[in-house]
Amino acid sequence: MTTQTTPIRVLFVCLGNICRSPMAEAVFQKIVADAGLERRFEIASVGTGAWHVGERPHPGTQAVLQRYNVPLRSEKRAQRLRQEDLETYDYIIAMDGENVQDIERYRAALNGKLVRLLEFASSTAPRDVPDPYYTQGFDQVYNLVLDGCMGLLEHIRGQRQI
Ligand code: 4NP
Repeated sequence: MTTQTTPIRVLFVCLGNICRSPMAEAVFQKIVADAGLERRFEIASVGTGAWHVGERPHPGTQAVLQRYNVPLRSEKRAQRLRQEDLETYDYIIAMDGENVQDIERYRAALNGKLVRLLEFASSTAPRDVPDPYYTQGFDQVYNLVLDGCMGLLEHIRGQRQI
């Protein structure tokens, strides 16, 4: 008999859901799969803004993921954050402080489950993932996202004892 456990739900949030949060979703999914924990997690990403809803991730995000052999779900399209996501997900992982402020406009009291990704990073600065939509710094963003995602998984494993 197999034991059914409730999945641990992780939602990555950025502004447009085409650059940073789809990258974090894919990177975290790969780290989780490499750790043999794929079945324990539900991982997704959304944006606080609606401009790009329905679009595929930015070509810069697609290219950097491909370069590092990180699979990207073929069906991934940009989605906007919904009020109910804040109930459904156990970990709401924002890319920067502006995302945190925007999310808190939906609901202020998130009881500690809203955290910036780089709070889990090994280095102490920066705490905001810069927006590559304007800077084209997709490689730098990848390295920050990877660092944060590794720390995030360690944090969750400690909390959930998995
Ligand atoms: P993301 O980047 O939040 O990392 O997906 C952006 C994408 C689009 C826009 C801003 C940021 N935009 O203003 O359209």
